[in-house]
Amino acid sequence: MKIIRAKDYNDMSRKAANIISAQVIMKPNCVLGLATGGSPEGIYKQLIDWYNKGDIDFSEITTINLDEYKGLSRESEQSYWYFMHHHFFDHVNVRPQKINVPDGTNMNVEEECARYDHIIQAKGGIDLQLLGIGVDGHIGFNEPGAAFELGTHCVDLDESTIEANKRYFEKKEDVPRQAYTMGIKTIMQARKVLMVANGKNKADIIKEAFFGPVTPQVPASILQMHPDFTLIGDEEALSKI
Ligand code: GLP
Repeated sequence: MKIIRAKDYNDMSRKAANIISAQVIMKPNCVLGLATGGSPEGIYKQLIDWYNKGDIDFSEITTINLDEYKGLSRESEQSYWYFMHHHFFDHVNVRPQKINVPDGTNMNVEEECARYDHIIQAKGGIDLQLLGIGVDGHIGFNEPGAAFELGTHCVDLDESTIEANKRYFEKKEDVPRQAYTMGIKTIMQARKVLMVANGKNKADIIKEAFFGPVTPQVPASILQMHPDFTLIGDEEALSKI
């Protein structure tokens, strides 16, 4: 486990974007596992900037997103499909047919999870997985108690996750109660894992996840066992370690 201290959110985003861009330069047809949320937004902004300057080419990459709310369609502004297009895909030359996000409108859970796992397998697994972390230690939407050995599955969201994510919705009642998420087994199989964390509200969970015991109660703690895991945090998020 490698921990990199960044001065602030911009510094964190730039450092993480540098690692992603190195990955794309080293392997132009790599598979990037991507994440949503406020933490990675700055990374996408930086990558778009470098793309506009001609420094990075995304034409051969495949993207596999971590998760999606069950019940939301691609058109819904709160869907992760929409988030990724709005914040990244629409501004760079990723090929639309190489973009993968779980289909929130597929109500057949077994079928959707099998479809997504098949894609990940067919692409040869993930070269670099980007992650944020929830205040309860979730990664993707793997909530506390999630079994470490799962592939893609459907989860019931924790109250604290609904509370944290309601800021994207008009009212709390609009936050879907379920989501599809890549499982921890798949995340752990990624060849490289990169997590970004910023802000005071992440300080406690960062300490618990990476300096406490490895337990399903803190899903991110399993990353202590990953052979190539890097955490980049700003001063506030790393203030307790
Ligand atoms: C959501 C996403 C996670 C993300 C988390 C933290 O629940 N499913 O992938 O890491 O939020 O988001 P933020 O970066 O906005 O704190």
